[in-house]
Amino acid sequence: MENPPNTALTRRNLFIVGAASATAVAAHSAAAAEAGASAHGAPPLRDEAVMSVRMTVNGQMRTLALDTRTTLLDALREQLQLTGTKKGCDHGQCGACTVIVDGRRINSCLTLAVMHEGAQVTTIEGLGNPQKLHALQAAFVKHDGYQCGYCTPGQICSAVGVLDEIKAGIPSHVSADLTARPLLSADEIRERMSGNICRCGAYSNILDAITEVAESNGGAA
Ligand code: FES
Ligand code: FES
Repeated sequence: MENPPNTALTRRNLFIVGAASATAVAAHSAAAAEAGASAHGAPPLRDEAVMSVRMTVNGQMRTLALDTRTTLLDALREQLQLTGTKKGCDHGQCGACTVIVDGRRINSCLTLAVMHEGAQVTTIEGLGNPQKLHALQAAFVKHDGYQCGYCTPGQICSAVGVLDEIKAGIPSHVSADLTARPLLSADEIRERMSGNICRCGAYSNILDAITEVAESNGGAA
């Protein structure tokens, strides 16, 4: 059956409009490519968006040329291939990305790498190695403080920070006496580790591992 004349006209117009749109998109893409933009619309990277950053990572001075929007987590994983530090939520909610910067544990997904010019960064790779494990790494193995292991690097870096904080007398939300040295109690350790989520639920073994190291070192990691 033949289409009525006005319907045929509509279809013909549709093809014309479609062809014109495709040409316009192609022309736009070519212009964008010449300007340095990606075809999917990401803005071009301007020179002023790239900065050189120097930081000491696991005892080694590293110099990085970074897009200023790069998080410390991505700089460690993507630029330095230190993939022991994990990306879980990328929103500061799981603790998988915890590293130690200038002696303090932080979520590396929540901070830009360019903010750490001159910093001392320690990741799980810098704490120990298979031949010479850090005391907390050995304790996690001994107490089975993991199942899948994805949260483990963050848990261990965080635990190093926790024991340092207790040693330094820094109180937590559950410290009864803010002027006394915090106790090495299970409640204190649980509270301080509460930013590190373990989806496998290895919490009781993690607590055992940290407690053993805390007690054997008198509170220091
Ligand atoms: Fe950083 Fe979850 S990946 S807190
Ligand atoms: Fe699997 Fe913690 S061991 S998430």
